[in-house]
Amino acid sequence: MATTATLATPAVLVDRARLEANIADMQRVCDAHGVELRPHIKTHKMVEVARRQLAAGARGLTCAKLGEAEAMLPSGVRSLFVAHSLADPGQAPRVAALADRLDDFRVAVTSEAHAIVLATVAAAAGRKLAVMMAVDTGLGREGVRELAAAQRLAVWLGRSRHLALRGFYTHEGNFYGLPREQQLTHVSELLDRLCAVRDAIDRTLPVWPGCSVSAKLIAAASAGRVQAVRPGAYMFGDLSLSEVTGVMPSATVAVHVLATVVDKPEPGLALIDAGSKTFSSDRTADNIHARAADGRDLAVVRVNEEHGYVRGAAVEALRVGERLAFTPAHICPVINLTDEVTVTGGGQIVDTWRVEARGKNR
Ligand SMILES: Cc1ncc(COP(=O)(O)O)c(C=O)c1O
Repeated sequence: MATTATLATPAVLVDRARLEANIADMQRVCDAHGVELRPHIKTHKMVEVARRQLAAGARGLTCAKLGEAEAMLPSGVRSLFVAHSLADPGQAPRVAALADRLDDFRVAVTSEAHAIVLATVAAAAGRKLAVMMAVDTGLGREGVRELAAAQRLAVWLGRSRHLALRGFYTHEGNFYGLPREQQLTHVSELLDRLCAVRDAIDRTLPVWPGCSVSAKLIAAASAGRVQAVRPGAYMFGDLSLSEVTGVMPSATVAVHVLATVVDKPEPGLALIDAGSKTFSSDRTADNIHARAADGRDLAVVRVNEEHGYVRGAAVEALRVGERLAFTPAHICPVINLTDEVTVTGGGQIVDTWRVEARGKNR
């Protein structure tokens, strides 16, 4: 069997054992607290990963775009939530096809203005669509801002021939800015806010919060109030999860970028063959694009399209031609920039998986 020593770089490596352990771990926590897991596939975009999540016990999948949902159908998924504001009646045939192929298909409704347009999408699809109402809990992106707005939207939906309210969700992306010690306090505020909206409208409807930073804390604090969580990046991990929020130890991060040192143009600087077309331009709060996975003091501090600028105390010892693995700051765009990932196990290459939903942002 081949090893990564001969792999052309830059290459995205998935450690199969760590991936499966991360999937099992999140599922175990959700099961222990009676909360469904509905992973967001925006991070992995791969049927092989979705299959593993469903086999481990995930109740369904979450997607941002219809193209992602379509790409995930071969995973065998039966329940799917498109957590995005659909606003184009031209997409009606695809909406109808997805609704017909799934047992449970839901889409987001994110405001009254959006509901009016979404109803035209549903009408054009000739389907009454199940909708999950977005509630803003601090990110300031989609979702009703106040209880009164949620109640007005619920009344509007109650009269709609094309949309049926089936629950509430939030994306608390603002948790990525919170250190570990503040996350728990914010979880209880988030649950109070979200459940107050649900309880004022219909106590029988489910609430689905939960990103990779908050999902386990929410499941543990749920006490029956939350029905599902929808984390995306948890099965891979990145610097945001291992360093910034402290949610995953770096030894559990399952995806790395293998790169080659292509030059050392001046003392203290090494250039690698992975730049923004591999890592994207995303950075951690302390301006790092990626960090050496083996713990050496080596950080990608700047990127051009095909170059990464590596600095740190261990640069002097690097040789041109040497390969090393990096943990990216943010894993989601890294996967969306690669056609396939190399799967490793026991020091060998064990598989290659296509990123089927890569670029499916329509
Ligand atoms: C609507 C929605 N749900 C779930 C997620 C998953 O978040 P994470 O990858 O942080 O787990 C995201 C991420 O952007 C999202 O936008």
